Amino acid sequence: MTLFYRLALGAVLLLILNQCTVQDKILQQTADKVADKVMLDVTDQKVEALLAQMTLEEKVGQMNQYNGFWEFTGPAPEDGDAKVKYDHLKTGRVGSVLNVRGAASVRELQELVVEESRLGIPLIFGSDVIHGYKTLSPIPLAEAASWDLKAIEKSARVAAIEASAVGINWTFAPMVDISRDARWGRVMEGAGEDTYLGSKIGVARIKGFQGDDLSADNTILACLKHFAGYGFAEAGKDYNTVDVGTSTLYNVILPPFKAGVENGVRTVMNSFNVLNGIPATGDAFLQREILKGKWGFDGFVISDWGSGKEMIDHGFAKDLKDVAVLATNGGSDMDMESTANVNHLQEAVEAGLVKESYVDDAVRRILRTKYELGLFDDPYKYCSPEKEATLLYHEDHQAAALDMAKRSIVLLKNDNQLLPLNKQQQKIAVIGALADDKSSPLGGWRIGSDDGTAVSLLEGLAKYTDQISYAKGADVVLENPEFIKELKINETDKSGFAEAVALAAKSDIVLMALGEVGFHSGEGRSRTKLGLPGVQQELLEAVHNVNPNIVLVLSNGRPLTIPWAAENVPAIVETWQLGSQSGNAIAQVLFGDYNPSGKLPMTFPRSVGQIPIYYNPYNTGRPGPIDLVFWAHYGDESNTPLYPFGYGLSYTTFEYSNLQIDTTDAATIKVSATVTNTGSVAGEEVAQLYIRDMVGSVVRPIKELKGFEKFELAAGASKTVTFSLGDQELGFYDNTGNFIVEPGDFQVMIGGSSDAGLTGAFTR
Ligand code: NOJ
Repeated sequence: MTLFYRLALGAVLLLILNQCTVQDKILQQTADKVADKVMLDVTDQKVEALLAQMTLEEKVGQMNQYNGFWEFTGPAPEDGDAKVKYDHLKTGRVGSVLNVRGAASVRELQELVVEESRLGIPLIFGSDVIHGYKTLSPIPLAEAASWDLKAIEKSARVAAIEASAVGINWTFAPMVDISRDARWGRVMEGAGEDTYLGSKIGVARIKGFQGDDLSADNTILACLKHFAGYGFAEAGKDYNTVDVGTSTLYNVILPPFKAGVENGVRTVMNSFNVLNGIPATGDAFLQREILKGKWGFDGFVISDWGSGKEMIDHGFAKDLKDVAVLATNGGSDMDMESTANVNHLQEAVEAGLVKESYVDDAVRRILRTKYELGLFDDPYKYCSPEKEATLLYHEDHQAAALDMAKRSIVLLKNDNQLLPLNKQQQKIAVIGALADDKSSPLGGWRIGSDDGTAVSLLEGLAKYTDQISYAKGADVVLENPEFIKELKINETDKSGFAEAVALAAKSDIVLMALGEVGFHSGEGRSRTKLGLPGVQQELLEAVHNVNPNIVLVLSNGRPLTIPWAAENVPAIVETWQLGSQSGNAIAQVLFGDYNPSGKLPMTFPRSVGQIPIYYNPYNTGRPGPIDLVFWAHYGDESNTPLYPFGYGLSYTTFEYSNLQIDTTDAATIKVSATVTNTGSVAGEEVAQLYIRDMVGSVVRPIKELKGFEKFELAAGASKTVTFSLGDQELGFYDNTGNFIVEPGDFQVMIGGSSDAGLTGAFTR
């Protein structure tokens, strides 16, 4: 573009912009950027050329996503007639489908579109590949407990390799919703309660899915979700209202999304919830002003399943046409399963309710992504029967899943070094239905994987010793759980107790495998009680009566409230749901072949009444304690958690010493400490750095994680960890969304948990 042309264009734009709303301006800026790129970017040139050929009907077709015809991950679609969809595929009225998988099935649909529709624009195939496709890694919350970004990236890479081998080129992951509420079943899908850790993990996952080259045939689009606030559903009830303050929105909820955008994520999914009374799918503030405007996101936004249509239930839209208008004007580019765009957007544009430039902007984003994937060069690049036959459940993937699983385990308690187990002599009783369960370790979101493919705890233990005797004790659920159905918990059947108690009585040590089945947590799986489900607590106590030498092997997709166990059981191992290699990973930890190194990514409450409980609240005006009742506390419960964020033990011990704060360079303050392995075996530690900004124009939390490092130390060895604190770590967002850095006093803490460490202070 010549300088003269630019100036002239700029003047015209300025004139137009003066008349426009903020949203229009942002759209104009985006279009301007695209216009600029036309001179430079071959892909954009191709996009423009294709866009110019498209009818309005074809454009809105790109903004439509249908579910596959045989499986669904939301309420069954009313408009689910396969014939309609086939017809729409052939006429270019579909841009993407979800829940279609398998090289042959994907090819069949792709052929229909590419061969028969007028312009042959290939489909993108989306799926919830959340923690693997066939080979499953631990659930995301468990992976987060590893604090191991390399292993997490690798896990996402493996997921992408397997998914892309069955035709999938888009995963609806990572979920970067921060949540402080263990009642919300979807905490299993995220990285826990902390925005800093969550941002790092989100970025690692994006890198793993998208790789360095999106056009390769084994990398897939990542999707940040759910934009925004979904993790703050009131009372932990899924899909519920969200009502958060501005400071929490800017400082807690949005940063992981921003980090993902800065690191090249290509798609973002909006969410079911309202924020300030506006459903996220129709929220121009979130999607146009912040995401596409301030952050310059140039990928596309997909709605959540039917979240467009749900704006009618929210009382925001009056009918589906209104949905198409509000969603598109709000910045949602592609409609998952509402059928609003495909059936009403054209009409709305023609009636002047939506500007065609908004539609063009959305379609540009979608087409560009398709070019980036290389779909126009080869629409069948992900449909390789050979890869499908050789890559699924591949041994290298199993090895990566095992490695990830070991790293995800958190040792919560280990009195008198009950663990690791002795590989010889001990008579070991294993009790609990979960020990013999080959599906529950796969957790929720296992759409591609096959039930019964996890290594069970019993199988893992059998590789170490033949001194194992097993008694189920009690079922956790009455029926085999199904992904889409309510669970039926066993609240009454204790007929197996006697056998379990008898076995425990004659054993040296008892491993009790208790907790949640795989579908206890996940979407739509909110709970008000977070103790061991069903009769398991009673079973634990009955066994404890005859043999207190118990290792509680917990499996769960969320923090549980287990105060009795924490008080009475000498050893507790948090194993979450560890995926395909679960039993092997747990056995390696129990027998000491892997020294546990995980740290909790989410606080474990003592009781549900403490929720939301998290490590970084504000101090309040009455932090106490004082002798009178007038301070922020409960009359019947401690303020402290059962196990705090960042907490986790090892078979060795680590000591922190020599905290140093170097303020020579005010732009980059260095905080360091020496960590020494003071035990007798090698182990890995996660050193964590927390800060507190003592006085702010907006109140700051009592603690904020601002750095961590995971490393291994031989017995007796020491290491100095050094963290840098600059503007990015010391600043925060004010209530208008501006990032500000204020001078003042700061406290720092370095330690192995959020509740303990060396403390110091500096002024900056
Ligand atoms: C609804 C969920 O909220 C979302 O995370 C998921 O990706 C879609 N369904 C598609 O299955």
